[in-house]
Amino acid sequence: MSLFGKQIVLGISGGIAAYKSADLTRRLRDAGAEVRVVMTRAATEFVTSLTFQALSGNPVHTALLDPQAEAAMGHIELARWADVVLIAPASADFMAKLAHGLADDLLSTLCLATDAPIALAPAMNRLMWSNPATRHNVAQLKERGLALFGPGQGSQACGEQGEGRMLEPLELVDTLSGLFNRGELRELGVMITAGPTHEAIDPVRYITNRSSGKMGFALAEAALEMGAAVKLISGPVALSTPRGARRIEVESAQQMHDVVMDELAKIQIFIACAAVADYRPVISERQKIKKKKDQLILALVRTPDILATVAGLESPPFTLGFAAETRNLEEYARGKLKQKSLDMIAANWVGAPDSGFESEYNALEVYWTDGQRSLPKAPKQELARQLIQLLTERYAATHKGIVPQRQTHRRTQDPG
Ligand code: C5P
Repeated sequence: MSLFGKQIVLGISGGIAAYKSADLTRRLRDAGAEVRVVMTRAATEFVTSLTFQALSGNPVHTALLDPQAEAAMGHIELARWADVVLIAPASADFMAKLAHGLADDLLSTLCLATDAPIALAPAMNRLMWSNPATRHNVAQLKERGLALFGPGQGSQACGEQGEGRMLEPLELVDTLSGLFNRGELRELGVMITAGPTHEAIDPVRYITNRSSGKMGFALAEAALEMGAAVKLISGPVALSTPRGARRIEVESAQQMHDVVMDELAKIQIFIACAAVADYRPVISERQKIKKKKDQLILALVRTPDILATVAGLESPPFTLGFAAETRNLEEYARGKLKQKSLDMIAANWVGAPDSGFESEYNALEVYWTDGQRSLPKAPKQELARQLIQLLTERYAATHKGIVPQRQTHRRTQDPG
């Protein structure tokens, strides 16, 4: 049961079951999720927002038109931030509101403004639950694709017995993780480097390359589709973050190296797709260089090899590297596989027509110690899916089934 890295908006509407949502907040965090709580006004009459602030570790959002809260994280940002919106308890009144698309408070507005999945955990008196008005609303919400968790049977706070109890916090966590953890990479942490790096010459100039970052971002999406928790360490690119990925932006090779090494805990698979600059200027001038001389010689120095550093750790994650070559593709790619002690390498021809750098298409030759596979030219998104599928097979073959090892990675030496 894992919600590792998931961003959950927990919506609390007015009902006595709101007291259980305090425990639910803790359980969600125990399962690895980050939780932001949104309460309706009625909910705050049953439990205090302070309880949820303490348990979630984040400020609680209650009002739509609160300038202070909007300045920190507005309702639209919150709607975008969510990987899922879980409403527990969902009262009969709140479900009626949702069914009609009303947006007269923060929680209902957020539900209209999000494209994340919405799950409801109804809690109400059994007669309210079985009332034709509620049945009609529930049918409509289901038809629109909202998930319903429960309600359960049993004794109710009002003293009656029947259907309408909110599911217990652990049941809710379990059902919610079922929404995410469907793919073959479920419960695995995947880190992907993407894009180029910028190596500063002076405050206005830098050395870079033609990488667009598209392949790395497509790989992130494909890994997410298969249920992985994805960290995307990206150089400067003009691409939006795939939903559900944690993106950390860097500029230089050294920064990318430092972030990768800091973020390796709970990562089982490392994909180095970034076109990291191999050299950086020895000196990055603090002032803009003036054009005085006819010749200007830039002294360059090697940057750390991030992939080799990760693969050289004492207990490294499964590593996939890339090789862009203009000749001797297999020989050079296999050379890198061995020198850098990688599990897999994906090689592509530089200069093939409409393929690779800046293009929407790519073609790959993938090598591992005792095998290889060709992935013919296809849109990067499609190719990324095929590559992640192949990686999943190789990972399973070398790890005897996909059982995550929650290891941290000890450093041996740093070849950089
Ligand atoms: O040796 P070469 O640069 O061709 O290796 C390419 C592979 O190594 C790519 O996977 C790239 O992301 C990674 N790399 C790295 N750090 C560097 C240079 C390359 O992670 N400084």
